[in-house]
Amino acid sequence: MALEAGAFRPDIPNVARMYDYMLGGKDNYPSDREAAQETFAVLGEDVVRGSVLQNREFLARAVRYLAAERGIRQFLDIGTGLPTMNSVHEVAQSVAPGSRIAYVDNDPVVLAHARDMLNCLPGTMIAGHDLRDPAAITADAGIRALLDFDQPVAVLLIAILHFIADRDDPAGIVSALMAAVPPGSCLVISHLTADHYTHADKVADVYQETAPGLHLRSRAAVEALFDGLPLLPPGELAYTGDWQPDADTPPASSPGGSAIWCGIARKA
Ligand SMILES: C[S@@+](CC[C@H](N)C(=O)[O-])C[C@H]1O[C@@H](n2cnc3c(N)ncnc32)[C@H](O)[C@@H]1O
Repeated sequence: MALEAGAFRPDIPNVARMYDYMLGGKDNYPSDREAAQETFAVLGEDVVRGSVLQNREFLARAVRYLAAERGIRQFLDIGTGLPTMNSVHEVAQSVAPGSRIAYVDNDPVVLAHARDMLNCLPGTMIAGHDLRDPAAITADAGIRALLDFDQPVAVLLIAILHFIADRDDPAGIVSALMAAVPPGSCLVISHLTADHYTHADKVADVYQETAPGLHLRSRAAVEALFDGLPLLPPGELAYTGDWQPDADTPPASSPGGSAIWCGIARKA
């Protein structure tokens, strides 16, 4: 049965709403804004806002690349976030109108906004699940009614795995998801790190107030999350602003931010 996430608590900082504020959105509360501003005090507002914007731009470039260059027509986007620019269905369906997108999140506010936004939009749906229960996601009847698990699926884990603690086995979660999709499927990951901005680990202190906390990982640890799958061009992890599979892919337009590793792998 789908999990409808935890209680709505505007008084406690929330990772989806903090991210919304960092992106310049309006779906946030004083507790979220105060916590986000604490992250600005640690890293600099330009670095934080630049990082989240570059992450969002990476999401759009990655989906466009998968749809246009890799023929992917099905997307499973886990950790959807609040509505903002470049939704996966907008980008994918602008390339291939028949693309189907299943969104998953565990946040009640995200679920409410997404249901409102996606209502009646062809080829889309959202289900409430926790990433820590991948079997529930891949068994969800609604997701399976939309996505054909015998055809390639792009599994998007964009800016979510750093909300999964080591004790919850993020590598095992990724492995379970990729075991459920056929060869030709792709895995997209972006993940916060303190490799470049070494004091980013202090940001984790700010996130201690949030339900999942923040779990920064090194380049090697992020690479290890790819389940042994080979990375597509450029063939190695890149910072989100630098990720370009080829010379025709435009680089990110936003300034600042080398705090998020990203990559795409393909299941052979
Ligand atoms: C930082 S936002 C990223 C949104 C979008 N993927 C992007 O990169 O722009 C993280 C999202 O993951 C969701 N999330 C965090 N932990 C989760 C979990 N264990 N299960 C499902 N969703 C989770 C949050 O509710 C939030 O919407």
